[in-house]
Amino acid sequence: MRRVTLEQVFTHPITQKYLERSGVAHAIAVAEYAYLFSKRYEVNPDHAVKAALLHDIGHYTWYRDGEWDYDLYKENDIHAIKGASRAHKLLIRIGEDRHAAKEIAVAILLHTDSYLPKGELKLKPLQQVVALADEADEENGGNHHYKKIEDHVALERIQALDKQIDATLTEKASQSENI
Ligand SMILES: [Fe+2]
Repeated sequence: MRRVTLEQVFTHPITQKYLERSGVAHAIAVAEYAYLFSKRYEVNPDHAVKAALLHDIGHYTWYRDGEWDYDLYKENDIHAIKGASRAHKLLIRIGEDRHAAKEIAVAILLHTDSYLPKGELKLKPLQQVVALADEADEENGGNHHYKKIEDHVALERIQALDKQIDATLTEKASQSENI
């Protein structure tokens, strides 16, 4: 039913490279929250979880004299824009449906408004799910980016999410057939 699994996205070298930077443990925790919230908001769990997993892949490391400079980051960060673009390119490359790739990329673009001009942004439910999932795993001082996870545990949690997504999509498909 799905063209691309979460495991395919997660194990791709491009994903691994960027998640190394922004935190694998954080990405997986946000993906798990997004799965839970996707039920509450009745959005496609596959899109929500993929966007959540990839939401921070646009991060750049802001170092000054060997240390992370938070002010430099605040001033210059565009990680949501870069992440949306990287995620879209990656998803298309591994065969994702074009519509799904766009939905996922836009949800990544809007997962934070810290870089946008002040004003009211009216988020669609999918975008809201990704933003809420990110907030749910946030820790003070950006500590969520430094949480550690063992490789085999990370992969097991990704595979468990794939199973849950498949089960939810199968259930939804059979419900719509019965109407
Ligand atoms: Fe995040």
